[in-house]
Amino acid sequence: MYICSNCGEGSAKWIGRCPSCDSWDTFTKTESQQKRKKSTLASFTSKNLSQTKSIEGSRIPTGINEFDRVLGGGFIAGEVVLLSGPPGIGKSTLLLQSVQNHLTLYISGEESDAQIKHRADRLSIQTEHIIFSESTQVESIVKGVKSLSKKPALIVVDSIQTLYSGDVDSTPGSLAQTRESCSQLVQLAKETHIPIIIVGHITKDGDVAGPKTLEHMVDAVITFEGENVSHLRVLRAKKNRFGSSDEIGVFEMTRKGLQPVNNPLAFVNEHEPKAIAGRSIVGIMEGKRVFFFEIQALASQTNLAIPRRIVKGAHYNKVLLLIAVLQKNLNIKLGNYDVYINVVGGVDVKSPSADLGICAAIVSSVKNLPISSSTVFTGEVGLLGEVRNGFGDSEISKEAKRLGFTKIITSKTVSSIKGLQVNISK
Ligand code: TYD
Ligand code: MG
Repeated sequence: MYICSNCGEGSAKWIGRCPSCDSWDTFTKTESQQKRKKSTLASFTSKNLSQTKSIEGSRIPTGINEFDRVLGGGFIAGEVVLLSGPPGIGKSTLLLQSVQNHLTLYISGEESDAQIKHRADRLSIQTEHIIFSESTQVESIVKGVKSLSKKPALIVVDSIQTLYSGDVDSTPGSLAQTRESCSQLVQLAKETHIPIIIVGHITKDGDVAGPKTLEHMVDAVITFEGENVSHLRVLRAKKNRFGSSDEIGVFEMTRKGLQPVNNPLAFVNEHEPKAIAGRSIVGIMEGKRVFFFEIQALASQTNLAIPRRIVKGAHYNKVLLLIAVLQKNLNIKLGNYDVYINVVGGVDVKSPSADLGICAAIVSSVKNLPISSSTVFTGEVGLLGEVRNGFGDSEISKEAKRLGFTKIITSKTVSSIKGLQVNISK
């Protein structure tokens, strides 16, 4: 049996490209491991929903505002949260800091008790209420948790890739193992009503390593992003059954662990007050808050038949579309330029409100027209070159004024992308 490591599609013979998710070279051989379910008839139960108490009251806050906001107020009884991010970003640090007020079972196949104790001491975290376990067999964890006389308020599993199930004979970290381990943990959470937070490593493409299916099994998928060179970290809900998925949490990694950041200008390099060609500042609503991000564009003459487009931190296809819109409306021959786009700080800016600022940065680079650092852009650009209101325009303008930006360019200033150049050159 061959299984796609990206989406879990199965096939009897090896295939190069997955017919389900279109990724290449992801089929790997696995032993047939379907567990035979005993065919006993399960009893059917039902009840009137009005008799049921809502879960809302039972939130368990971590006490870390930036984390709680992303969770929707805290963990919910029986919830399973997947925390994913690249190695070294601070997942284990965040979890250790967030469980300090609750009796917690901390299961780590990644680090030893001594390593975790060392980190806790360094962060001045009390450890009396943290029960540590090195068990990595999921069946023994399930049995162990059920037999604990004092039930923990939270369970942390660091990481899913180190767990294995005795019922599946493939190596830990394989698709079959992570999927089976995750499914047993989900069941455990639902039975015991204890929230379980699972750490998952991500591949370089940003997916949870191995099964994408893991994301469907859990209640919330929280990602941790940032660059190792910068100290800023962004926590984002990719999926959240029990809260809004557009709130972000911002942290700074310091010598004393992760510290919350509540500064809308955290991602803007304020030490760079000069006007520079190719740099624009965009204002964006992230949940209920406004943040400002710095977009960098570099357009350089190309010798290639097909010019290069490299995008980091924004939607690749969106940038291609904006390039086409600029080419058509401003009569710039972008086919002669390689275009590189970067969002400073290693964060992802997915909101369409960034469109206008991305266009401005590209035009600024091509024309070598610096944009003043007290100018801010916000607005969505349509296929016809029209500039539309982005989400939360008026809040963004208000916040920008408060922070001292003197020129706020929105759909009210430029109704079409044709008017963009005049607005950045002044
Ligand atoms: P860690 O939480 O171990 O990352 P992950 O679990 O996501 O792999 O964080 C590791 C990094 O964080 C490491 O490079 C050291 C740094 N760090 C600090 O800068 N300050 C601190 O107080 C701690 C605990 C870690
Ligand atoms: Mg870790």
